[in-house]
Amino acid sequence: MSVNLLIDCDTGVDDALMLLDLAGNPDANIVAVGSVHGNVQSRRAAINTRYVLDLVGLEDVPSAVGSWRPLAQPLHTAEYIHGPFGLGGFEPPEPNTPLSEEHAVNQMIRLAHERPGDLTLLATGPLTNLGAALVLDPELPQLIPRVVIMGGNIAEPGNITPWAEANIWHDPEAADLVFQYGWEVVLVPLDVTHQTLLTGPYLERLQAAASSSAVAEFASAIVQFYLDMYEQARGIRAAAMHDPLAGGVALDPSLCGYIEKSIHVELRGTETRGMTVADLRGYRDEISDRPRVKVAMEVEADRFLSAFVERLTRG
Ligand code: RIB
Ligand code: CA
Repeated sequence: MSVNLLIDCDTGVDDALMLLDLAGNPDANIVAVGSVHGNVQSRRAAINTRYVLDLVGLEDVPSAVGSWRPLAQPLHTAEYIHGPFGLGGFEPPEPNTPLSEEHAVNQMIRLAHERPGDLTLLATGPLTNLGAALVLDPELPQLIPRVVIMGGNIAEPGNITPWAEANIWHDPEAADLVFQYGWEVVLVPLDVTHQTLLTGPYLERLQAAASSSAVAEFASAIVQFYLDMYEQARGIRAAAMHDPLAGGVALDPSLCGYIEKSIHVELRGTETRGMTVADLRGYRDEISDRPRVKVAMEVEADRFLSAFVERLTRG
């Protein structure tokens, strides 16, 4: 039985690779996609999503524009990592299919009420839309039973700052709100996504399939800019598949091993704002009375990457 996905993302390179992967996975049913500021501005993210969905024949899946800025800090975008339009060096044409006229937050609330208990919310961008939806609708956590989030860092250093991961750092207040409710939250942090690196052999398979697969050709093209950035920043030509892993976990939780911890987000740290904080001491009674979050801390990286690249390179 396929998983009904409501996706909330800031479509940059790895969000786009996740959408391509999920679209080709029979275990996934993409119901709708909402955009959010982050890698790029929210409208640009929605256009990028629209282009990817049309590329894989999902013209009927809506792409709605979401929150344009964080709740409590100025907008910051990351074209320096994802490319001027968020898809590496690629500039998508104006989409043939129009963007949804509904705001992504309204889309999320509407679908939650139309399909109570039926949706998995997969969030791979800053959590502003989720935070806004929680403020608007107190019933949301009862209507959307499962939320899978790419974000945070527990024992792993941050990526946008030495202490914070980008999705959480881009809107710490929204993220901290999301972790306060009793919905089943699965967090896919840098601790595991930094293990799912698209490296030489996988890239070569992607490149080799480009002549026979439009999806592989597009994937191979948009990942180059991202690889250049990684090589410049980390000295290795390997791109972390952050969002694709979160999509994989939404369909197959057995890919990872988990700890269950309450998660707080640092809001006032001069240096550490946006850091995800968990009590790792292992005491029987944790200091926090927040609901526990399933935090992925181990991953079968090769099993995921092999299946991911196989799906992207099908003809
Ligand atoms: O830190 C990685 C996350 O931030 C990914 O979701 C990437 O797309 C950016 O949104
Ligand atoms: Ca993302």
